[in-house]
Amino acid sequence: MTDLADLLTYRLARAFAEVAGEAADPAVRRSEHADYQADGALRLAKRLRRPPREVAAAVLGVAELDDLVAKAEIAGPGFLNLTIADSALSRHVEAMAVDERLGVPTVAAPERILVDYSGPNVGKELHVGHLRSTVIGDALARLLQFLGHDVVRQNHLGDWGTTFGMLIEHFVDSGADPSADDFALGDLTEFYQAARRKFDGDEDFANRARRRVVQLQTGDADTLALWQLFIDESAKHFQAVYDALDITLTPEHIRGESAYNDGLPGLVDELVKLGLLKESDGALCLFPDGFTGRDGKPFPIIVRKRDGGYNYEATDLVAIRQRLLDLKAQRICYVVASEQRLRLAMLFEAARDTGWLQPPASAEHITFGMVLGPDRKRLRTRSGDLPKLADLLEAAVRRAEGVIAEKAPDLDTGERAAVAKAVGIGAIKYGDLSSDRIKDYLFDLDQMVSFDGNTAPYLQYAHARIQSVFRRGNIDPAAFHGTEVILNDPTEHRLALRLSEFGGVLNKAADGVELHRICGYLFDLATAFTAFYENCPVLRAEDDTTRASRLVLCDVTAKVLATGLSVLGIAAPNRI
Ligand code: ARG
Repeated sequence: MTDLADLLTYRLARAFAEVAGEAADPAVRRSEHADYQADGALRLAKRLRRPPREVAAAVLGVAELDDLVAKAEIAGPGFLNLTIADSALSRHVEAMAVDERLGVPTVAAPERILVDYSGPNVGKELHVGHLRSTVIGDALARLLQFLGHDVVRQNHLGDWGTTFGMLIEHFVDSGADPSADDFALGDLTEFYQAARRKFDGDEDFANRARRRVVQLQTGDADTLALWQLFIDESAKHFQAVYDALDITLTPEHIRGESAYNDGLPGLVDELVKLGLLKESDGALCLFPDGFTGRDGKPFPIIVRKRDGGYNYEATDLVAIRQRLLDLKAQRICYVVASEQRLRLAMLFEAARDTGWLQPPASAEHITFGMVLGPDRKRLRTRSGDLPKLADLLEAAVRRAEGVIAEKAPDLDTGERAAVAKAVGIGAIKYGDLSSDRIKDYLFDLDQMVSFDGNTAPYLQYAHARIQSVFRRGNIDPAAFHGTEVILNDPTEHRLALRLSEFGGVLNKAADGVELHRICGYLFDLATAFTAFYENCPVLRAEDDTTRASRLVLCDVTAKVLATGLSVLGIAAPNRI
């Protein structure tokens, strides 16, 4: 099914092209004066040196809009104000009601899309710095999957490197027995900090840690076993937080830096064959085009260090090669903090130089702003640490419990706990996703769990309210499938109009990875529903036909809200 706004744009584009003699953008957008407004005549008029209103009239003269538009007016200097025909909207909503996918087709040409997200470093707990990559990456993966793409999730754990020397030595010092049943590393962050303190203060320990690194790199069996222990303990902790946050990552998606170790020597061979490696100070380097340092000299990617070791960049080269050539990814989304902008830009350029990355395949860095505290600086705890993700989630759920106790005092205890979890977790995720991705945002729990404004609880509440209509009327909405939708009240028209936009919004959000568009849309939809619900009695509608039609509008609205939220990774409880 085609989105009505897209269909309108398409029909107008044809008319504009006819008048212009070449392609011309109709510039369709939502309007306060009508359903949509097309501003394209203004720009085209300049090009044609004709009065804009005359151009607008010419466009209307040739546009085929009869089945789609009830009213088309030329306004102001030459805008087109367009009102969608009720008949077209009714038909659209009727079709949504009987379609599991709510009228959103899967894409015509599905792609294999790899989403690289979360990627925490092993040996530390997940903290607020991992929130955005994890939440945005997961929503993106869900959205692309919903649209029919073949999504490959990858969790690029930082599970290799020199810090493991110090962690392993500290562990050996502790005398703990990893084979004991009650073995646990305990608080990972504290463990890491203690090891770090020893490393900085104790020369003998530091030397042992360095020797451990060599043993790790040369594959000493005991050392590898100890290393594996860290990985497993950390992965267990990560998984617990992912589950609490309702993130779709599982252990199968882990593809840490260490997974690429075996490919490193082969990488060097291949780059040598391609003639791309240059020696610089004993290190083997790539010099991707267009990157220069402060001194104006070409800026390197160090593929192999002077001591023969490899680092993060080399691993990423092996990874991108495998993603493109072996996994055959057509699009790779790196949902990674903006600090890594230069690194990733150089990585992509290097992948082009080698020929691994060629159009139509693409790689993109999905960046995001910071999570800010009330002082408008990076969010920190009172003691100055980055707050643990697990603590933030707990605080959100607790806060949600309070709000729900007030809002829904008659929920029983078990259900109240479940709803509080859905609302608290949803609030945090939605707070992150609803702001423009590349901007910083303020972490304000009170605002996030509020039932007013553009928040998850507001949308969840709107959804639950519709379910309560069905409960009160003892109605199974499926019984009304095939019912005719009648749009007599302006609020019914407006609600149907918003519903008809769902598919177009999802596609646009996926193209630019702009999840906040989905949030803004759902908020507008819930607002349109509220206006409808205040103006149009549903269970007590004046006659059966109207009642049935309104029940269909309710049903489709509830489904769009629930589906939209689920694409964002947020639950929609039936009762609040
Ligand atoms: N482990 C990295 C970090 O904590 C993120 C990994 C991102 N993915 C990648 N392919 N480099 O910053």
